[in-house]
Amino acid sequence: MSKRTPLIVANWKMNKTTVEAVLLMQDILNRLNPGEMDSHEVVVCPPFIDLKQVATVIEYDRSEVRLGAQDVHWRPDGAYTGAISVRMLAAVGCRFCIVGHSERRQMFREGDQEVAWKLEALLDGGIAPILCVGEPAEVRERGRRAAEDFVLQQVKAALSTVDTALAAKLAVAYEPIWSIGTGAAATPEDAQRMAAAIRDCLRQLFGDVAERLRILYGGSLNVGNVAMFAPQPDLDGGLIGGASLDAQAFSQMVQLWRDQ
Ligand code: 13P
Repeated sequence: MSKRTPLIVANWKMNKTTVEAVLLMQDILNRLNPGEMDSHEVVVCPPFIDLKQVATVIEYDRSEVRLGAQDVHWRPDGAYTGAISVRMLAAVGCRFCIVGHSERRQMFREGDQEVAWKLEALLDGGIAPILCVGEPAEVRERGRRAAEDFVLQQVKAALSTVDTALAAKLAVAYEPIWSIGTGAAATPEDAQRMAAAIRDCLRQLFGDVAERLRILYGGSLNVGNVAMFAPQPDLDGGLIGGASLDAQAFSQMVQLWRDQ
């Protein structure tokens, strides 16, 4: 048995108006068995504009589901039009925040430096970062070793300046870009191999703390495949995109992970 509490994260991406987000959250909470929360941590990451209302739904339900954000800016405040700070996220009740998602890296041109700054700002502000890493298809085509080098470089670039005392809050999500939204998930064995390599890298950076850090897999997870990922020794949860927009599928996936 792993010493780590499994972490299942819903990333709603740019989906749902506030009314739709409230309805989806209510639907998910109605389907999640409260007992499930004793052994698992479940995080929902709606768009910024929905955070407050989704937080209210969670609070009203007295649910243990945690609120997360999909991104953050590293500056505490100031003239950064359109940006949201760590303090703003904390004030609305966010405990988690995704950082370095491949969609941000690719579409919004975020580099390793920005990712590292965001991560540091989150840790300083008491919000747990979920660091996303993952190789594109053209790197994977060069083989497993090339994919591993690419991913570990991303891990090191984001984490090499992080203080070990703060690192315990961190989670890392391995999301190969070619698997996101494509229906072509990595094999559980491949995901496990990469997770083990990531954990080795975390050991080099943080020593024994690495045993407590959760490593997630993300990319085309669904009701049909999630149960195969759960038993892998270095995988401690999932980061779920498309399937998390379906309350029935998402709640079933939480349960399937728990049953393994
Ligand atoms: P999908 O589950 O839709 O493939 O998305 C994965 C993802 O990017 C979660 O952050």
